[in-house]
Amino acid sequence: MLIRRLEITDVRNVKHANIVDLSPISIFYGVNGSGKTTLLESIHILSSAKSFRSHKLKPLINNEAERCVVFAEVAVQGDEDLFHPIGVQRSRSGEGLIKINGENVRSAAQLAEALPLQVINSDTFLLLGGGPVVRRQFLDWGVFHVEHGFHEAWKGFQRCLKQRNSLLRHDRIDGPTLQVWTREYVKLSEQLDHYRAQYLRQFSPVFERCLAQLSNLSGIELRYQRGWAKDQTLEAALAAQSESEQQQGYTLSGPHRADLRILYQGQLAADILSRGQQKLIVCALRVAQGYLLSELNQRKCAYLVDDLPSELDEDHRKALCRLLDELDCQVFISCVDHQDLNGCWQQTDKVKLFHVEHGVVTAQT
Ligand SMILES: Nc1ncnc2c1ncn2[C@@H]1O[C@H](COP(=O)(O)OP(=O)(O)OP(=O)(O)O)[C@@H](O)[C@H]1O
Ligand SMILES: [Mg+2]
Repeated sequence: MLIRRLEITDVRNVKHANIVDLSPISIFYGVNGSGKTTLLESIHILSSAKSFRSHKLKPLINNEAERCVVFAEVAVQGDEDLFHPIGVQRSRSGEGLIKINGENVRSAAQLAEALPLQVINSDTFLLLGGGPVVRRQFLDWGVFHVEHGFHEAWKGFQRCLKQRNSLLRHDRIDGPTLQVWTREYVKLSEQLDHYRAQYLRQFSPVFERCLAQLSNLSGIELRYQRGWAKDQTLEAALAAQSESEQQQGYTLSGPHRADLRILYQGQLAADILSRGQQKLIVCALRVAQGYLLSELNQRKCAYLVDDLPSELDEDHRKALCRLLDELDCQVFISCVDHQDLNGCWQQTDKVKLFHVEHGVVTAQT
């Protein structure tokens, strides 16, 4: 189990909750507006210092409070019996404080490292129908957690991209300086592309296995586009675009233009599949990342599944729960009626129900 105790203060309508008896599978249920998604959001804050609903900070903090705090005891990766405290505080003024095991931490990447998290919620559909940025984030989540060099390469790449774009915006381009940055930019871009392509080669069979357990859809293809033409080096692509780059003032090719197109029988899955079918594909994608993480790194991630029953019929709910159960990771689920999940779990002693009402959480015995 990744999270043992969770304490929340002043996140939306949850004034204070101290949940000491979390289970491998914790189900938060209650009527609309009771605070279920807020509880999942609070766990997300622990993994990224922000919400999954919006990047805005103020709506997250209870209307009558100046700051919100989320605290948890989180298992140390590699030693599930040892727990470290992790705390995140966010203030209306914009200030934030992150503490891991008593030490102040400056980068949210350290939170992500300490608590790998996957979210399945109503924004899930954006993975298929939204812009490429959502799919790049999805891909990079996996690469970040399995490839140690990725984060440094990513930071270096962002720095080069910024420098290059700023040089391209000048009226008179400083050719030699641009060349220096372009060389570094190409090197880091190729490294990122290599990490992503390698990750996808390992990911695809795991995804297919997960999808086969969830649905009988066949003909789903993950098509990676690296951000520049297949038959060209990045250097050649940039050289060919240099005039357009100077006119537009930014870099037109590179990993920031990559995409992972998700196709069903050759067409975009989002254009053709039903909502339920789309949800199953996204669940297979996200659960497959948990399986691969555990296979490659012996690490577990936790899952936040907001309103699990929505869009799914009984058989598909059971299939999703079975897949999560077999992964043996910690799962936090919200739903209006917990009876919608009856019969979904093999071992009922792993499951704990929590009733949520007006922001107050009560464990059911
Ligand atoms: N900053 C805030 N301060 C106080 N209350 C808030 C704040 N932001 C949102 N709320 C309220 O918190 C409540 C909980 O919202 P939440 O989205 O967690 O509900 P939910 O149980 O997930 O509901 P649903 O079943 O409709 O998804 C809502 O009634 C909402 O209006
Ligand atoms: Mg909700």
